[in-house]
Amino acid sequence: MASLWGGRFEKDMDEIVKRYNASIFFDQRMYNEDIDGSVAHVTMLAKQGIVTEAERDQIIAGLEGIRADIAAGKITFTVEDEDIHMGVESRLIARIGEVGKKLHTARSRNDQCQVDGRLYLKKEIREILESLCCLEDVILRKAEQYADAITVGFTHLQHAQPITVGFVFMAYFQMFKRDIQRLQDTLARMDYNPLGSCALAGTTMPIDRRCTSELLGFAAPCENAMDGVSDRDYSLEFLSDASISMMHLSRWAEEFAWWNSSEFAYIAIDDSFCTGSSIMPQKKNPDMAELIRGKVGRVYGDLMQLLTVMKGTPLAYNKDFQEDKESLFDAIDTWKASIDIFARMLDKTEFRMDQIQKQLGKGFLNATDIAEHLAKQGIPFREAHSIVGRMVKTCEHKGCDFEDLTAEDLAAIDGRVTPDSLGDISISACVDARTSFGGTAPAEVRRQIAVGREWLSSLERQ
Ligand code: ARG
Repeated sequence: MASLWGGRFEKDMDEIVKRYNASIFFDQRMYNEDIDGSVAHVTMLAKQGIVTEAERDQIIAGLEGIRADIAAGKITFTVEDEDIHMGVESRLIARIGEVGKKLHTARSRNDQCQVDGRLYLKKEIREILESLCCLEDVILRKAEQYADAITVGFTHLQHAQPITVGFVFMAYFQMFKRDIQRLQDTLARMDYNPLGSCALAGTTMPIDRRCTSELLGFAAPCENAMDGVSDRDYSLEFLSDASISMMHLSRWAEEFAWWNSSEFAYIAIDDSFCTGSSIMPQKKNPDMAELIRGKVGRVYGDLMQLLTVMKGTPLAYNKDFQEDKESLFDAIDTWKASIDIFARMLDKTEFRMDQIQKQLGKGFLNATDIAEHLAKQGIPFREAHSIVGRMVKTCEHKGCDFEDLTAEDLAAIDGRVTPDSLGDISISACVDARTSFGGTAPAEVRRQIAVGREWLSSLERQ
């Protein structure tokens, strides 16, 4: 079958070339956006007197018929379609005849594929933003539930200071908040319409690019036609956003895996988010956490793939750019699914406070608090640090906790220290006292939750 662009050719494409060249097998997922772009384009052509109103109506009716047929599964695209743009246009001509040939006036597949890509990505970004907001909502609820629940805070995977579970949740809340803001920035920066850039240099036809921008819901037309058809920054930004956010999910997924381990047993992941072993009957594995951690690799790969495709491509359109879609789609699907799975898993995860309690007495979690307490009594912090360090050494020698050190033990360490001067060093008192802005005290975490909730509902009002 001769292609729509076949006029100057004497031979048809080789079969293996057709297959290698075709993007229809993956770009058909943008069929709705392709048809939206065409409807807006022909509406503008009629407004500008480039086609008649009757021609416009025929073309739009034909396009809507094709849309309905694709949605109903009545159209099977083949390699002969080459890409979604040709697939729709050739079917339009087959359906409504000669008038269908007017649709491609003052546009090119180079701007068309960009309109489709941007419209499609904008839609997906809105869905991902919703998913991230749902995740944030789960985090806020869980943070509230565990605002007073004390757990071990780690640095270097060593016991560091006591914190609350709610505090950990709110740390992740901040990461996903930035992910949302990054995505909003990307959305605002990509909201420019390439339609009417045509092949690379605009057109001699009296088109109105503001009109199509408005019809398609873009903020404005791209300023420069050559940039309009050659820019893939928006996909790269999206892939960067996805990579950073997947990294956040992966960090938490990693924590889930070790919190769930037999050694820690800090959490019980719901059965519905775990799998068993084909040989070991007792196993309940945290596969979802591990899969999320593993899937980050794909998304980083997607970003690297497109960065590499774009590197060194001269202006304007090059066929290399067709390679911008599969990695983008893969990242969209992977990120979206990972957020949704993680949010549901989180919602159903319970912290085993009895197990955590057993760990709170280990590792001198209150050491910093004692040093701060001594510093408040006038001992320079560096000296207080050294005193508590020596207290730890004595405890380790005696095999006891701070509370068990006698007045003599303390006096031998430093004449200024008595059991009374240590203050209330219970773990809960230490947590309650960390009221500095951003600290882990339950009251402060509740403030963070309130601010977070206010921010989230301001997004929902937008
Ligand atoms: N399928 C192509 C793509 O996705 C559409 C643009 C083709 N343009 C061209 N001049 N061959 O990039």
